[in-house]
Amino acid sequence: MKRYGRITGWGKSVPARVLTNFDLEQMVDTSDEWIVTRTGIRERHVVGPGETTATMSLEACRKALEQARVSPEEVDLIIIATSTPDYLCPPVSSMVQDQLGATRAGAFTLVAGCTGFVYGLVTASQFIETGLYERVLVVGVETLSKAVDWTDRATCVLFGDGCGAVLVEASDTPTGILSCELGSDGSDWDALMAPGGGCVKPFSEEVLHNREHYLRMDGKRIFKFATRKMTEAVTNVVRASGLSWDDIDLIIPHQANARITDLAMRRLGVEPEKMMVNVERYGNTSAASIPLALCDALEEGRLQSGDHVVLIGFGAGLTWGAAVLHWQPESEVEELINVEDSPLLASLFKPVRNAVWSTQVAARARLQDMTMAAMTPIYRLQRRIMRK
Ligand code: UT7
Repeated sequence: MKRYGRITGWGKSVPARVLTNFDLEQMVDTSDEWIVTRTGIRERHVVGPGETTATMSLEACRKALEQARVSPEEVDLIIIATSTPDYLCPPVSSMVQDQLGATRAGAFTLVAGCTGFVYGLVTASQFIETGLYERVLVVGVETLSKAVDWTDRATCVLFGDGCGAVLVEASDTPTGILSCELGSDGSDWDALMAPGGGCVKPFSEEVLHNREHYLRMDGKRIFKFATRKMTEAVTNVVRASGLSWDDIDLIIPHQANARITDLAMRRLGVEPEKMMVNVERYGNTSAASIPLALCDALEEGRLQSGDHVVLIGFGAGLTWGAAVLHWQPESEVEELINVEDSPLLASLFKPVRNAVWSTQVAARARLQDMTMAAMTPIYRLQRRIMRK
């Protein structure tokens, strides 16, 4: 039987300390007006003493498990997407695995810039669909306040700290990722980087003096890449999902700059209420921004069971990743029982809508399997002829 990866739990963690644009005015030559008009950002959270990538991950994972009513020992794998781990070595994922008490779980850290969470979610779903694992935690987390140069106004006003986590569980009902695209264009690798502190230029007095261990960004180059890729990748995954634009209820993009999301929205012809934007509250939190926005969308009631949501990430690498998700955190049976706060209509309509959708997806999956089965001997023959 085909298996699907269903998101059943989610949680976020942001440091209590808030740094506003007005605070930044006291630190570098900038203004609230410049930051708001060029980026949409009004404030960001930054870690205080004792707060790290691991502590934020732990809090978000605990919330996600609690929401899903799953114990840490039941988790099979933990994937942490981050560019700002506690240490270069060991992987922060193992520290979180231990502190969480996920005694049976494997763990790894994934580095794919701001696209890391989408890469992690697709990877988790694959582990579940192949039948290897039942429950995978996917975390997007950053402590960028430790990676930016607080004397460089071109970058320090943009970034923030935070974390979002989801639990993906195996399900027999068609749900989860309907289509996805993961991409990389390494020819622009130097558009967002920390030149020093790695193996090419290990940490030294010179690196410290030139402040090369901090992030540097060619903002304009990434801006052009981001607006182009957002439009292309979202169009590709919606088309591949077999859904129409009207079926898409919400787009959750990486929150780098409100101007990027605005431009992409106009190019895609999407209404503003279908685009989730919370960059004003957190700044750019890289790998954490999509799961943070997902949690906020749920808190604000902008995402309902049965909805279709598009995730789109882009960033360092340069990388991009997009996915269309069917959002259905509870099983259909649970959903039927849990709709006490909805009117009678909802309890009648939702199961019908779910059933129609499930049949559609199951039919599409069967069709793909049949096409693959029919084409495989032809591909084999073709390869044999080419080898000769
Ligand atoms: O998440 C990873 C992906 N990252 C992104 O997606 C970021 C993409 N890029 C961007 O969002 C934008 O390019 C930025 C927000 C980074 C910059 O916006 P921009 O409109 O491209 O500004 P700019 O870099 O061209 O700078 C315009 C002016 C410059 O002054 P001059 O040369 O015109 O006199 C800058 O020196 O604004 C100046 N400037 C600032 N002024 C006040 C740059 N930073 C600041 C600042 N405050 N913080």
